Amino acid sequence: MNPAISEFQHDKAILVGVQVRGTRPLLSLQESLQELALLADTAGLTVVGELTQTLNRIEPATFIGSGKVTEMMELVASAAAGTVIFDDELSPRHQRELSEALGENIKLLDRSALILDIFAQHARTREGALQVELAQYEYRLPRLTRQWTHLARQAGGAGARGGSGGVGVRGPGETQLEVDRRDISRRIAHLKNELERVRQHRRLQRESRRRAGVPVVSLVGYTNAGKSTLMNTIASADVYVANQLFATLDPTTRRVELPSNRQVLFTDTVGFIQKLPPALIAAFRATLEEIQEADLILHVVDASHPSAAAQIEAVDDILAEIEVTGVPRLLVWNKLDQVEDTTLPDLRPGDRDYRGQVAVSALQRTGIAALREQIDALLAITLQRLRYVIPYQRGDVVSQLHEVARVLRQEHIDGGVLIEAEVPDFAAGRFQPYLSPGETDVPQD
Ligand code: GTP
Repeated sequence: MNPAISEFQHDKAILVGVQVRGTRPLLSLQESLQELALLADTAGLTVVGELTQTLNRIEPATFIGSGKVTEMMELVASAAAGTVIFDDELSPRHQRELSEALGENIKLLDRSALILDIFAQHARTREGALQVELAQYEYRLPRLTRQWTHLARQAGGAGARGGSGGVGVRGPGETQLEVDRRDISRRIAHLKNELERVRQHRRLQRESRRRAGVPVVSLVGYTNAGKSTLMNTIASADVYVANQLFATLDPTTRRVELPSNRQVLFTDTVGFIQKLPPALIAAFRATLEEIQEADLILHVVDASHPSAAAQIEAVDDILAEIEVTGVPRLLVWNKLDQVEDTTLPDLRPGDRDYRGQVAVSALQRTGIAALREQIDALLAITLQRLRYVIPYQRGDVVSQLHEVARVLRQEHIDGGVLIEAEVPDFAAGRFQPYLSPGETDVPQD
């Protein structure tokens, strides 16, 4: 874990969850609160109490009813808690009214602030840090009050440099709050510029990968599903694995050879969670764009988790929100070693992008061979069977073809090396000049 100390660390917290009649959230109130407790624990807080309420609608002023507010304050006092965490994102007004009720000494957080804090602790690269810092400022700007100005200066967690980036000098007639708002808005504009540059850079990287014809397999999944472990197992790569929420924040890429000898790139991305703060999704666009550009998505699920079905849905919802459509998906049920019933459920008919499913234990390395074969097979769907004659002096082209394609036949003939191969669509253009004359498509055996 990143040694950076969370701003909420070493504190006793109580959790507050609300259920609104007539709504059907992905997780039940209890499941959602259990998840919130894990998030609190990851951020270094100790949960000492919990409060729930069922409402017809969210109270516009205090989120929960006034009687519950009193109950909350009693619980805070009796449990000697220093922090109250709401399981939903609070509006600026909720935040203001509740902070007033709780007084200066009790910290008020919501799920979004907590997730942002964990992300800030876990950002390792400059890009990750920039994205989290932007998300924190976007989240805090509308909530800025006297109480928040101090925190706003510290925004950005592990990777942040320079705080609000402004000198905070008051202009004529400006209040300190206005100065803070102006500084933060300026910093947000600066971060957006920086991230646009990161996006451009990533775009170039993707283009060059495309030119090299290497397919990309993107791992996605609910936080703690085992993506990093699976990536390690498949690629024997040394990716950071921890029994923690959001251990992986920055995308990691590894080159892997499949059973067909085809080379592919695996990329591991940030873990998902229900109610992911909208500011975070917006800020992580540069990272998340990688998923849309992938040739195949492996959706990793913790099969042993009691809310596995809801977690699948939450991941699908986020993929839809970031407009990932049309990329084939493979559902990977992980942690098979921890489940008794290993029958795979039917894929729902609505899941058009799902092309198959497979069960593995990334930790115990079972089912991995079958998974690798399925990946090969799914990537092969976009293959054309082609025949080439490559001049003898172009040994480099021969090796490139071996890297991206499945070579079925290779012979030395007059004028060069004859190669018959299954070539992915996106790489075919690159080898076009070497197509054997009159042999643009070789019939299947
Ligand atoms: P985020 O970084 O939150 O996105 O998590 P992740 O999906 O990358 O999960 P990670 O690989 O860090 O694994 C989370 C926890 O699950 C770790 O404690 C792993 O050891 C454990 N784990 C992963 N795969 C398996 C498995 O097949 N079986 C069991 N029993 N545990 C597993």
